[in-house]
Amino acid sequence: MIGKVFLVGAGPGDPDLITVKGLRLIRSADVIIYDRLIPHELLGEARPDAELIDAGKAPARQRLSQEAINALIVEKASQGDQVVRLKGGDPFVFGRGGEEALACFKAGIPFEVVPGVSSAFAVPAYAGIPVTHRGLSSALTIITGHEDPSEASSVDYDALAHLGGTLVILMGVQHAAAILARLAEAGLPAATPAAVIEWGATPDQRVAEGTLATIAAVAAALDIQPPAITVIGEVVRLRGEGVRWFGELLAQAI
Ligand SMILES: C[S@@+](CC[C@H](N)C(=O)[O-])C[C@H]1O[C@@H](n2cnc3c(N)ncnc32)[C@H](O)[C@@H]1O
Repeated sequence: MIGKVFLVGAGPGDPDLITVKGLRLIRSADVIIYDRLIPHELLGEARPDAELIDAGKAPARQRLSQEAINALIVEKASQGDQVVRLKGGDPFVFGRGGEEALACFKAGIPFEVVPGVSSAFAVPAYAGIPVTHRGLSSALTIITGHEDPSEASSVDYDALAHLGGTLVILMGVQHAAAILARLAEAGLPAATPAAVIEWGATPDQRVAEGTLATIAAVAAALDIQPPAITVIGEVVRLRGEGVRWFGELLAQAI
């Protein structure tokens, strides 16, 4: 008999942010294929006889390609297993969950999607930054910082600089300085508040604070490393005005 695939969002950092449905599926799965950024405590909820496969590292310690992950999911479900594909945050927010759903569809494997709490808004929340706030920000834009803005990019920085509201950048550590400079060049005011949050919603969370003009230097001085999220917008100020609630190092602007 054919099995089934569940594309489950694990949430970011704090293991308690998993949904009730996601936790129920982890506890009953035959196979769990998981990503590097999931809260690893969740794997302790698996059945003792469940097969746990780290898709972040192949045996040779190299990342499995997306094609190899798709093939593995399909193979396990074809053998009759209930497969949980456990992904950080939400499976469809920069998670390649759509590609895995399409791979299942093409192979005739039934699947369900279990949305998760995305780092895009939960990590700012743990840093005391509401991504929208009445009177300060009525729009939220989430972009990938994975691409070098000096090369042909699918992100329209000129449009972003004039949108207003809050800008959240995922996967942006490597290209942070170039992206921030590109936004300034496109007309985003240099004094716009900005923050970078490393390992958000975990005991290791660190937050760098500054402005569009200073945040790259502040983050570099703190040696901020992935995973990290950059938030740009007036809402960042709320952290210092009383919304901060989760303890961590506070880095002031330089
Ligand atoms: C491939 S994307 C996946 C996003 C995920 N699907 C989600 O909804 O949160 C990975 C990026 O998410 C962000 N991220 C995920 N977990 C994080 C955390 N605990 N702290 C800071 N950033 C995090 C980082 O920008 C990281 O590079």
